[in-house]
Amino acid sequence: MDAKMANTKTSKISVGDQSWSFPIHEGTIGPSVIDIAKLYSQTGMFTYDPGYTSTGSCESKITYIDGDEGVLLYRGYPIEQLAEHGDFLETCYLLLYGELPTAAQRADFVKRVTNHTMVHEQMSRFFQGFRRDAHPMAVMVGSVGALSAFYHDSTDISDPQQRLIASIRMIAKMPTLAAMAYKYSIGQPFIYPKNELNYATNFLRMCFAVPCEEYKPNQVLARAMDRIFILHADHEQNASTSTVRLAGSSGANPFACVAAGIACLWGPAHGGANEAALKMLAEIGHVDRIPEYIKRSKDKNDPFRLMGFGHRVYHNYDPRAKIMQKTCHEVLNELGIKDDPLLDVALELERIALKDEYFIEKKLYPNIDFYSGITLKAMGFPTTMFTVLFALARTVGWIAQWKEMIEDPSQKIGRPRQLYTGATKRDYTPISRRK
Ligand code: SDX
Repeated sequence: MDAKMANTKTSKISVGDQSWSFPIHEGTIGPSVIDIAKLYSQTGMFTYDPGYTSTGSCESKITYIDGDEGVLLYRGYPIEQLAEHGDFLETCYLLLYGELPTAAQRADFVKRVTNHTMVHEQMSRFFQGFRRDAHPMAVMVGSVGALSAFYHDSTDISDPQQRLIASIRMIAKMPTLAAMAYKYSIGQPFIYPKNELNYATNFLRMCFAVPCEEYKPNQVLARAMDRIFILHADHEQNASTSTVRLAGSSGANPFACVAAGIACLWGPAHGGANEAALKMLAEIGHVDRIPEYIKRSKDKNDPFRLMGFGHRVYHNYDPRAKIMQKTCHEVLNELGIKDDPLLDVALELERIALKDEYFIEKKLYPNIDFYSGITLKAMGFPTTMFTVLFALARTVGWIAQWKEMIEDPSQKIGRPRQLYTGATKRDYTPISRRK
């Protein structure tokens, strides 16, 4: 355990006339934690925290979020500065190794990633097994999980060298697989990566190039894509990252763990919200219909929620949403899209919601998914690809968190307990005697 976590204070828990002390650990910033690892052995009781709203699952040095202040730091660097001055592969290096790379380190990292962007040729045949109309996220769960069937020479997680190769392969091959999933869904041939292109340009080319004409890269769109990847790269112990950590805690290989993360991210409450948010904006359709939907989102008997609004941690504006909104305007301007009705609805919906008592009281603000859909749609992606792009970018976060867990000497298999409220012990009744 890090020196800063050496326990200096203790907390007391009392039940009736019994009380127990548990150490308090302090981090470098953010809330301290009460270490209850020995709670069950000392008290015979578990804690109870469905959804883990007050539970720290691990110690980490990677990403820090201050939900009240709307702060997001990757290894201490504010997301605003990384999005403005950095690029995605530099951010990948930072998340994996903890420091910004020197020019030589960056060049070496970029070269290693670039040299792993192709996938095994048999993956093309693997894709043929999917229906053309399969959701690309279903294809990604399947194809990323299948990587462990093609790259078993980097699945021994006890070997640091294999862990490094698997990490590089995951970061390098996700754009290729994502582009293949898109091309397969529209019946166009797969486009191979080109090593002389940067990460984002390479990805856009694999998605939008066709063999019958020269692809002309658009550097404004490539820069926007790269920035969108930076914004989505990591986010502390969110649901999909916790899924990857839990899967990895059993010793599963990193390809299988990332496939589990992709499956979790797909949900509309998580990464699937960008696809759901765009569908919601299209369903609202016009600013005149916003009040009706705001009313529905407050109605406890109506399952409708404003997709792209609210967050488990941010009770202030998601800092990524502000950058996403700026990027959205840049992309629309570059593409000459003057009046996007969906953007009009989004801007008016945000304006109304931020003044609404309900949203103010519940501290509901736009999150990263609110503007990303409009941007990605303008760039030419179908809504079904939005969460695939989120998964592409989040892969480095999943891998960095998985690497941190594997390299933590105190790491053990994750195994939560429960509050059991089911039947007490009873004997088997033969079917002849059941009523
Ligand atoms: C991501 O965790 C991460 O870091 C995730 C993520 C990442 O980078 O990994 O940031 C990416 O997943 C962003 C979130 C995308 N999801 C959506 O936009 C879906 C819409 N949002 C909601 O489903 C909700 O806000 C969650 C799931 C995001 C958070 O839910 P919580 O923390 O469990 O909060 P909650 O559902 O208990 O809501 C608290 C209150 C409730 O009202 P009460 O029961 O207290 O009366 O706020 C209400 C909710 O009904 N509420 C909403 C709302 N979100 C919460 N009401 C209307 N519209 C909404 N969007």
